[in-house]
Amino acid sequence: MTSGLTDRPAGRGFGKLILFGEHAVVHGVPAIVAGLSLGASATVVHAAPTSLTLIDGSGRVVTTAFASTDGEPLERALQAMIFSLGVTQDVQVSVTLDVPIGVGMGSSAAMAAAVTRALVAEFDLGEQAIEAAVSASEAVFHGSASGIDQAAALTGGVFEFERGAPPKITPMKIPSVQLVVVEAGPPALTSDMVTGVANRLRRRKTSARQVLAAIREVVGEASSALQAGDWASVGELMDMNHGLLKALGVSTPELDRACEDAVAVGALGAKITGAGGGGCVIALTPNRGAEVCALLAARGWKSFTVEIS
Ligand code: PMV
Repeated sequence: MTSGLTDRPAGRGFGKLILFGEHAVVHGVPAIVAGLSLGASATVVHAAPTSLTLIDGSGRVVTTAFASTDGEPLERALQAMIFSLGVTQDVQVSVTLDVPIGVGMGSSAAMAAAVTRALVAEFDLGEQAIEAAVSASEAVFHGSASGIDQAAALTGGVFEFERGAPPKITPMKIPSVQLVVVEAGPPALTSDMVTGVANRLRRRKTSARQVLAAIREVVGEASSALQAGDWASVGELMDMNHGLLKALGVSTPELDRACEDAVAVGALGAKITGAGGGGCVIALTPNRGAEVCALLAARGWKSFTVEIS
């Protein structure tokens, strides 16, 4: 156990962007995800009452939650992690997030990975306790999730993910490339969007299953194109994946417009990233992210660049 303020263990978790295959991944199709250098860092001190304070990238306190089984999601998530890890002492956890909250960039999983790692280090709990605790936190925010956010938060880098127990994670080596993330409306609840897709699959057994099969093909082709740095193909496949997500019912007019505008100002392709229903789109902009952001701003969009590799 550590003491003092200078040697507190810090935990880190990565944010993420799903590049291909969201939603289909819930139903067994592989997906491709990029863990980001942006994410969350957590530190722990022994003090009562047990709490979690979220601080944004500029050092401002966003909120403080107190561990509780019947409170707000953040309170329940903190309780779930502490319970899963078997921590019985009072702890105050500070989490600094440099990934935006609630836009489909995996802030909740990054937070859980950072908090869990800091607690595991503080109480010498052993690495094997980490996954279950992150998963318990993610269950509070996302219900029954595929586990892709959690894998990205803990692993980082670009990899192919296939749901399972344990999930199959295949790291990919891709040339570094710039994406633009465009904010296109308030995000919907991931669990609502996942339920909507499950309902469509139940109603449209054959046709909606064909959409999943098409996404599987897109992901396979995208995997090769990404590793080859064939950006024209990656862009085309992003457009196709967006169309298929629209066919699953998770796009909105604003998300569609953001994709169209990004391509109109020079992106090679664009798609929803994450659950849809609002949130963000990603656009592929090798070497021209700043220019595309400026052109999108002129059309009224808030956007920023991210480098993945
Ligand atoms: O809400 P997000 O961006 O974390 O999206 C989660 C990805 C889904 O495929 C929609 C759900 C899941 O559990 O994989």
